[in-house]
Amino acid sequence: MPAFPTPAEDTASPLQAAFASRLIEWQRRHGRHDLPWQNTRDPYWIWLSEIMLQQTQVSTVIPYYAKFLARFPDVAALASAPIDDVMALWAGLGYYSRARNLHRCAQAVVERHGGVFPASPEALAQLPGIGRSTAAAIASFAFGARATILDGNVKRVLARVFGIEGFPGEKRVENAMWTLAERLMPASDASSDDVSAYTQGLMDLGATLCVRGKPDCARCPFATDCVAHATGRQRELPAARPKKTVPTRRTWMLVLRDGASVLLERRPPSGIWGGLWSLPEAPDEAALAERAQAFGAAEGFERLAPLAHTFTHFKLEIEPRCADLGRESSRRGMLNSVGIEARDDATAWVPLAQIDDYGVPAPVRKLLDALSGSLV
Ligand code: ADE
Repeated sequence: MPAFPTPAEDTASPLQAAFASRLIEWQRRHGRHDLPWQNTRDPYWIWLSEIMLQQTQVSTVIPYYAKFLARFPDVAALASAPIDDVMALWAGLGYYSRARNLHRCAQAVVERHGGVFPASPEALAQLPGIGRSTAAAIASFAFGARATILDGNVKRVLARVFGIEGFPGEKRVENAMWTLAERLMPASDASSDDVSAYTQGLMDLGATLCVRGKPDCARCPFATDCVAHATGRQRELPAARPKKTVPTRRTWMLVLRDGASVLLERRPPSGIWGGLWSLPEAPDEAALAERAQAFGAAEGFERLAPLAHTFTHFKLEIEPRCADLGRESSRRGMLNSVGIEARDDATAWVPLAQIDDYGVPAPVRKLLDALSGSLV
């Protein structure tokens, strides 16, 4: 696995050194140049686009952006508008705290900065709804500031090109990415046009080629150096959010047999597997033995291999126990007058070969399939 450079290592790799110029060249030739918020340095236009583009795709944003600018042509118009008007124009874009912060931010720009957006990323990041990456994007596009962005798309590009392991939402990984992203920036004497092209290039690469699902590596300017491409790990990088550890519950299940039939019980209508047919259950082995006796089972259980099933909120460990009907027991009363298996609302004796006719939860089905295999 290629080592990720730590901040202590200050010698840039050849790829790190060439990254900015290669990206700028690619952006000028193949990037996007005609989006409605490009070809302007108006910070109001740029700020509005960056807020709308947080968690939302370009194609969704464009019509909203046009309507917003027509109704609120400058930051003062937005600041003095009733919040209900802002919310009405935002309706459908989602993540509504963005709209409330947008309004608050416009008011802060008017009140704290006399209606003029500040130029530094640090001052921008003090305003409502503007985080570190958004502040850098605005400062870079509006003022040509040499400021580093790191949004979800950029994290994906960096994770793949440089082979950065770990979930980027984790602070340790994110900090390492910020360090790398800062190191990759164009040189300090770069022109403001180069800085804007670089920032836009990172966004364009992540949005058009280095996409989550099926990256278009054949057209990528970094394909020859990309760790994910070289190792075929595009799907694994960046690493997914680690699965939450969920609590475990245990249940004992009774496989009560009569020849090639088993007893199924219908589950209550709500809760897990609501309304499905399953095996009789108990919270421990002794309670299961009592239930087995009540169904007329012979003494003693055969242990079957335990199995586990993971739900969203917990893991279920199943301890199956097998028993046969006692010799003196019979299923009298469970056959109807023409000898067909009766199926009341709560229990049914079901031939293993007919399990398909019943809605049975997947893990129980698996258990019964194994049993039916062993009977063949
Ligand atoms: N996503 C975030 N900012 C963007 C921008 N300026 N252009 C395109 N997509 C973006």
